[in-house]
Amino acid sequence: MNNTSIAGMKRSHLCGELRLADAGKTVTVNGWVDRVRDNGGVLFLLVRDRAGIVQCTFDKSVNKALFDIAFTCRTEFVVAVRGRLTARDAAAVNSKMPTGEVEIVAEELRILSKAETTPFEIDDGKEVGDQIRLKYRYLDLRRPSMQRNLMLRHRVTQIARNYFDEHGFLEIETPMLTKSTPEGARDYLVPSRVHPGKFYALPQSPQQYKQLLMLAGLDRYIQITRCFRDEDLRADRQPEFTQIDLEMSFVEQDDVIAVNEGFLQRVFKEVLDIDVPLPLPRLTWREAMDRFGSDKPDVRFGFELCDISDIAANCGFGVFKGAVEAGGTVRCININGYADRFPRKEIDKLADFVKTYRAKGLAWMKLAEDGTMTSSFAKFLTDEELAAIKARTGMQENDVLFVVADASEGVVLQSLGALRCEMAKRLGLAKKDDFRLLWVTEFPQFEYSEEEDRLVAKHHPFTAPMDEDIALLESEPQKVRAKAYDIILNGCELGGGSIRIHDPALQTRMFRALGFTEEQAKEQFGHLITAFSYGAPPHGGLAYGLDRLCMLLAGLDSIRDVIAFPKVQNASDLMMSCPDTVDDKQLDELSIAVTRAAEADGQA
Ligand code: AMO
Ligand code: AMP
Repeated sequence: MNNTSIAGMKRSHLCGELRLADAGKTVTVNGWVDRVRDNGGVLFLLVRDRAGIVQCTFDKSVNKALFDIAFTCRTEFVVAVRGRLTARDAAAVNSKMPTGEVEIVAEELRILSKAETTPFEIDDGKEVGDQIRLKYRYLDLRRPSMQRNLMLRHRVTQIARNYFDEHGFLEIETPMLTKSTPEGARDYLVPSRVHPGKFYALPQSPQQYKQLLMLAGLDRYIQITRCFRDEDLRADRQPEFTQIDLEMSFVEQDDVIAVNEGFLQRVFKEVLDIDVPLPLPRLTWREAMDRFGSDKPDVRFGFELCDISDIAANCGFGVFKGAVEAGGTVRCININGYADRFPRKEIDKLADFVKTYRAKGLAWMKLAEDGTMTSSFAKFLTDEELAAIKARTGMQENDVLFVVADASEGVVLQSLGALRCEMAKRLGLAKKDDFRLLWVTEFPQFEYSEEEDRLVAKHHPFTAPMDEDIALLESEPQKVRAKAYDIILNGCELGGGSIRIHDPALQTRMFRALGFTEEQAKEQFGHLITAFSYGAPPHGGLAYGLDRLCMLLAGLDSIRDVIAFPKVQNASDLMMSCPDTVDDKQLDELSIAVTRAAEADGQA
């Protein structure tokens, strides 16, 4: 029988760590056959492990029996090779491989396991469809790039554990089986067997628990924890994702920000060797919206928004004038220096782009390099009005202005905010290795929900209002700003947090402002209201999306690539084939009857 045991063939080194300095040593490596190259009488097995790839050579004229075994090896066979590490001839040095100056001249080879032909090649250079990658995720994860991503993620979590430990944070676990509460995303529910008809919810975040830990006197908490939200998935959203979640007692906003800036500085230094200068820039929410049309501004490029409502208010262009009259706004962005990149038919396509953000159209004005002006609206404006717009936007040759007018300020800001990012993307101005961190502060306390036709908490109902705005809670809630802050990296919301309400009377006012009756508040948050009545420290915290942080650090476009086993767009796991049906017996035990048969499962 073949010996497939590792006994006697355990590795002395990792494949990828062998260097010229080790030449002359007898070494043993264990790993997967990455490639087999047959040079007539000499066979090369490239053997791969987590650390990299090393070349092992088998010379027929030296050891035919060994050569013959090597000859049976196919890619992805698992092998153990022992031999003398030897410097390659100058002509044979492969400068592309970290181990390219050496090779193992094999003296022993053991095949530990054989492999069928894999559904795709384990090769970073090959494009592989997402479906197949995720169905065979364990093979996908063999690719060096995926291994690097997971190693980077490991590094970031270790830094978080160490850094927050050094700063007095305790790592405390909170339950996964918890209570469903309104607000936020849809919950994932777990039926209870013991309590028929009752359900746990998987946590959307440990928010309430971490606040209760502060009330419990634990002072500083951190947890690297899974959160569950049943929401529509995007490139930066998964149904289960991981937060670096923290909370601190006896603090104000600046204290939370300072400790987190230190953390981010350490992460960038240790992971990418980048020095992040502190303090980080801060923008108020209002300023972020006005200048960038977004509460998560990407500041790697300019093209800031410019308000021309006052100039447009009385102009002869009905679209502009009408928007201002309807209480709306007219704003523009100047894509300065790139007018030549936008011929007429490109511009027409951009109108379709902003329409996806509910803008009704896109007006434009272009000044060519030779000074010729073309525009979709200039003919309706006076020379003075045009001159005023040019002056305000600093318009020069080879600039193109894009204008959106709408009765809704939100539509104007959102569509221009998206357009400026789209322009930067098309022009290649958003470099992945240019990291711009910033804080957005002073978020509105409430936002209007069209769906529910009422004010809802923009952050969550425990977020403290700014002291100077508390008086407006009942009279002008829309104007109340919160002690809430988000940390933004390159247009992505990396994390968010707030100072919490610790005064029960204020919390009661907050619930009332959100439209909860006293009974509703008691039913849903009674445990918290009671807890706050026994002495609550001022406290606040923050949670990072760990997946997003790792994605951006690794220069990737999707959080899937930093999650070992992610789900696809329709929230299914293609490898495990779940969600899935369960036995009737299991359903009976849970007192559950499935009334709606599943429709054909489309896979994203
Ligand atoms: P928030 O809801 O802003 O705050 O979540 C914090 C961070 O988690 C990340 N995130 C996600 N990442 C991947 N997939 C998702 N579906 C997803 N949803 C959120 C984002 C986000 O910034 N308890 C509060 C924090 C606090 O107030 O301390 C909270 O959960 O990066
Ligand atoms: P129209 O009057 O519809 O022919 O539009 C004239 C120009 O104004 C075109 O370039 C439209 O794209 C643009 N336009 C129409 N509605 C808006 C709007 N709400 N904001 C900005 N531009 C608009």
